[in-house]
Amino acid sequence: MYALKATELCRGYGTGDLKTKVLDGFDLTLAPGAFEVLMGPSGSGKSTFLHVAAGLLTADAGTVEIGGTDVTALGDGAAAKFRRRHVGVVFQSFNLVDTLDVAANIELPVRLDHGRPNAERLAALVSKLGLEGKEHRLPDALSGGERQRVAIARALYAEPDVILADEPTGNLDVSAAKSLCDLLRGIHAEERSAIFLVTHDPVVAAAADRVHFLKNGKIAVSHDTPSHDPAEISRLYLETYK
Ligand SMILES: Nc1ncnc2c1ncn2[C@@H]1O[C@H](COP(=O)(O)OP(=O)(O)O)[C@@H](O)[C@H]1O
Ligand SMILES: [Mg+2]
Repeated sequence: MYALKATELCRGYGTGDLKTKVLDGFDLTLAPGAFEVLMGPSGSGKSTFLHVAAGLLTADAGTVEIGGTDVTALGDGAAAKFRRRHVGVVFQSFNLVDTLDVAANIELPVRLDHGRPNAERLAALVSKLGLEGKEHRLPDALSGGERQRVAIARALYAEPDVILADEPTGNLDVSAAKSLCDLLRGIHAEERSAIFLVTHDPVVAAAADRVHFLKNGKIAVSHDTPSHDPAEISRLYLETYK
């Protein structure tokens, strides 16, 4: 069983002769608990893949299985429900609810799912993400790094099969981005969720154990990155897109 398995996935935009193929036979497998990264130039289809995998966008062909369920076969309502239990999504723009405090934002998916919030789980995540004492603040009163940590706590809450993160450090300064990545590595060791992260920042990518490079709609090459060295990732990137 995989945390995520994409098979021959295709997705384009437009119709007829104007149709562009963004994903074109995209294959990927992610083991349970893996921490891997997808890199590629702007416009190569990274966000398109994450949106299809999260059930936020339909596929033209192919499948994406998460925890054994084909998300491309779910209707909108079923996809939303499935996402709340099995997929944690983190966006560049945080996507917090401005009128809810930190605790309520983290518990939002479980409440939407008619589940009972678990105070211990909340406290554990608040602590792991360094948000102690900020539980009752509104997002406006948080830094960008703190907002993204709230979004990550929310994504982790239900112990999903996979966290899909789309350039989660894109709106953060260099040091906030670095500390978020260090945090992700630590959390990853303790949580069961696999992490699949899209970024074009080698410092962020270095947090993961494996990097995939997207080219012409599919993964062109993948490397294990046990050294967690940003310079090594930069070298591989430049070699792939020379
Ligand atoms: N809603 C859309 N309509 C038409 N073209 C789109 C749409 N969304 C993305 N694209 C195009 O698809 C390609 C891949 O986009 P995207 O997945 O956002 O790439 P990335 O995240 O790697 O920058 C780009 O050429 C982009 O312009
Ligand atoms: Mg993108």
